Amino acid sequence: MTGQLRKIVDLGDKASRFDPEIHHDYKIHTALKLAALNHALDVFTPIARRQADRHREYHRSVYVDLFAGCGVTKTAKGDWLAGSPIIAVNSKAHFDSMVLVERGSERIEALKKRIGGVSGKGQPVPTYIVGDCNALKRHVIDLLQPNDLVFVTADPEGMQLHWETLVDIVRTCPASDLFINCTVGVNRVVGAAESNEAAGKTLERFTGRSLAELLGGVGEGNEFLDMYEKGMTEALGKPLGTTTLVSTESGQPRYNVLIRTRRTSRGSPYLPGYEALSKRLSSLTAAEASRAIDIIKGRQKALASD
Ligand SMILES: C[S@@+](CC[C@H](N)C(=O)[O-])C[C@H]1O[C@@H](n2cnc3c(N)ncnc32)[C@H](O)[C@@H]1O
Repeated sequence: MTGQLRKIVDLGDKASRFDPEIHHDYKIHTALKLAALNHALDVFTPIARRQADRHREYHRSVYVDLFAGCGVTKTAKGDWLAGSPIIAVNSKAHFDSMVLVERGSERIEALKKRIGGVSGKGQPVPTYIVGDCNALKRHVIDLLQPNDLVFVTADPEGMQLHWETLVDIVRTCPASDLFINCTVGVNRVVGAAESNEAAGKTLERFTGRSLAELLGGVGEGNEFLDMYEKGMTEALGKPLGTTTLVSTESGQPRYNVLIRTRRTSRGSPYLPGYEALSKRLSSLTAAEASRAIDIIKGRQKALASD
C-alpha cells in the first residue's frame, strides 16, 4: 500500500509543477481509488503487453480514460496525488495507444503539459478528445480496433457515464477490461427519480434500463448495485471481476470500484490479480491512506507494523 501511494504522491508532485493552479480538490479517500487503479494497471499491462507482442489473437494494448480530469488532485493537507491518466502513462508495461477524454478544456490543456513532463518510457503520445465522452464516443471507437486489448477507466463524479457508451466500446473491443467508479449516490437518485423527471432520465442513461424496470427492481440498500453488476455480466459479457466499497475518512460510503473482465476458454489471466487487489483495497481505510501519506511526507514516523 505504501509503495502504491508513494508512486502516486511522487508522480503527483512532479505533475503539479505544470499549471499548479489547475487541479482537483478531492478528499483523501481518493488516494485509495488511485492506488487501486495503479494496482489494476500493474495486473493488466504486463499480461496485455505479452499478449499483444505475441501478435496472434491481439495486436495492441490500449488505455481509454473517459473522465481523464486534469492529472492531479490536491488534498486538504496540500499533498499532490497523480490522477488516472498520469498513473496510466507510468504503468508497469507500456501501452501501444491511449485515448483521454475530458470535458473541461482548461483541464485537458494542463493534462497535456503534465503528461509531456512525466510520461514513462516507451509510452505512446495520447490522443486527447475534448468534450462529453458520451456524445463523442464515436471518436473514441474510431481509434479502436476489434483485436485490441483495452483497459477502460471511467471515473465520473456522479452518473455522467452513459451505459450505451460502455456497450459500444465493449462491442467494438470484446477484450476490454473495465475500471469503473460507481457513486453510491445512485441509491438516493433512485428514490427521487419517481417524482423528478431529470433524475429519472439521468438514471435511465446511466443504467441503460427503463425507469419502470429500475423502480420495480430497486428497493433498499445495495440492490441498485446488484442490477448494475448484472448488466455488466449479461449485457457487457463481463462476468468476472470485483466490486470494492471505498469510504471517506469518517466512514461514509462514497463509491464502489468495479473491475470487470471477460471469461475466455482459459478463464481469465487477469482475474487473480484483480481479486488480490480487491482484497487489499477492502482491508484499507482512508485514515490509513492518510497516515501512509504522512509517513511518506515525513510528517509521521513509521511504526514497526507499517
Ligand atoms: C472525478 S474527475 C476525474 C478524475 C481523474 N480520473 C483522476 O483520477 O484525477 C471527473 C472528470 O470528468 C470530467 N467530466 C464530467 N463529465 C464528463 C463527460 N460527460 N465527458 C467527459 N468528461 C467529463 C470532469 O470535468 C472531471 O474533470
